[in-house]
Amino acid sequence: MGTILEVKNLTKKYGGLTAVNDFSFEIKRGEFIGLIGPNGAGKTTVFNLISGFEKPNSGSIRFDGMNITGLRPYKIVNKGIARTFQLVRSFKFLTLLQNVSVACQSKRGREASKSAGIDAHASSILAAVGLVDKARIPPVVLPHGDLRKLQIGKALGTNPELLLLDEPFSGLTHEEQQTLTDLILKLHDDGLTIFMTGHVLRELMNLVPRVIAMHQGKFIVDGPPKEVANNKIVLEAYLGGGEAFA
Ligand SMILES: Nc1ncnc2c1ncn2[C@@H]1O[C@H](COP(=O)(O)OP(=O)(O)OP(=O)(O)O)[C@@H](O)[C@H]1O
Ligand SMILES: [Mg+2]
Repeated sequence: MGTILEVKNLTKKYGGLTAVNDFSFEIKRGEFIGLIGPNGAGKTTVFNLISGFEKPNSGSIRFDGMNITGLRPYKIVNKGIARTFQLVRSFKFLTLLQNVSVACQSKRGREASKSAGIDAHASSILAAVGLVDKARIPPVVLPHGDLRKLQIGKALGTNPELLLLDEPFSGLTHEEQQTLTDLILKLHDDGLTIFMTGHVLRELMNLVPRVIAMHQGKFIVDGPPKEVANNKIVLEAYLGGGEAFA
């Protein structure tokens, strides 16, 4: 499998704080991979840099062989990277179908919708994420688990090759986590490359075969979850922050 994402020596500073510090890694096409680190480690900043919401001070990001460093978010979506946000965001006054349809209006979304039409395509995405029964209602009335599914539906509307999920399990009940896990696994089985963050390693442990750990902006270790969980710096980072995870 070829490389889909190559991040080299990525650095992002906010004033005196280096949120991401000389960070490098590669993801192969079709992988399912986790990014872990305690609160403030720099996970969301890595996603913001990949998806173009922030520009790095230095370093490079290549997707599918193309240099995408510093491109605006919509251009990166058009290349085939979609992301969800740690805090859910939706168009409050649109229905779920309309929310997903907006994403289907993107360049790749339109291409994917061509044969079925935007509405039918958006509807099939809602079915895939388990929300088709709620297509005609606005997101404000949904439980949190459904809102998380909607975020994924909107990302899928742009027809991505690489999906970045920022803390998809945050705030969910155990049951909602199970449902979302099944959905994410299905998307991966269907061929999507998935990169997701979590600050509780346990959540990711049984899910992903490969984990990258970061702490204070820096790369710590990359490997199978068990190996990562036993890494000395990872243990100290979590236990030092008062967060047991294993
Ligand atoms: N826009 C910003 N301005 C200033 N500092 C920022 C900004 N965004 C992030 N930071 C800082 O950069 C560091 C990394 O933050 P980031 O949100 O990437 O961490 P995280 O690993 O996603 O944490 P969490 O687990 O809480 O989501 C933190 O110290 C944070 O306060
Ligand atoms: Mg974060």
